[in-house]
Amino acid sequence: METVISASILSADLCNLERDIKKAEDAGCGYIHFDVMDGVFVNNISYGIPVLKSVSKITGSVLDVHLMIIDPIKYINAFADSGAGIITFHYESASDVKLTAEAIRNAGKKAGIAIKPKTPVKMLKPYLRYIDMVLIMTVEPGFGGQGFIYETLDKIKELRDLLRRLEFDIPIQVDGGINMETGRLAREAGADILVAGSYLFDSEDIKEAVSSLIS
Ligand code: DX5
Ligand code: ZN
Repeated sequence: METVISASILSADLCNLERDIKKAEDAGCGYIHFDVMDGVFVNNISYGIPVLKSVSKITGSVLDVHLMIIDPIKYINAFADSGAGIITFHYESASDVKLTAEAIRNAGKKAGIAIKPKTPVKMLKPYLRYIDMVLIMTVEPGFGGQGFIYETLDKIKELRDLLRRLEFDIPIQVDGGINMETGRLAREAGADILVAGSYLFDSEDIKEAVSSLIS
């Protein structure tokens, strides 16, 4: 598939969220990445359901919701009803993987599963048939603006090979520390969807930043 850029609004100006979302869309971002953190699964708290509801009213882009919360299964219907298009939860969370993925699909949404940098790709193998996207974290989840962990490139390659071998047509998303250089490396390794936050919203020219990720 063609590379998709998912703009992580964690790094946007939250007082001007509508303006920043429009900027990201005009610059060519296909998805809006919405990071939900509960202060338990990760050491940070972001925003949740009411903000997603508001955002869904001002955008037609796919809302790519990344749940960094301890028990995601409890909240699937609430996120689905609030405008999420893709709901990604963590393999390392407390919820049952198969049941959570099924709950997302039953709600009519795409199910993504995320793994942290130290979680091996092989753990995903039993679940591939229940999911529509894999997110390989390229930083430890919790904060924007961190440096890319280069060791994760091998995991992207390993997953790409595994999906090819088992004939699963599932996109690979990467999240954390994506810029012109790391974005290119991640794409070469097999990533289809690049999440980018600080690289886009801290740049002087967001259009140029997005082009540098897809060209
Ligand atoms: C980190 C979040 C990311 C974050 C990426 O836990 O999942 O989506 O916003 O930010 P950058 O692109 O600045 O690393
Ligand atoms: Zn994220």
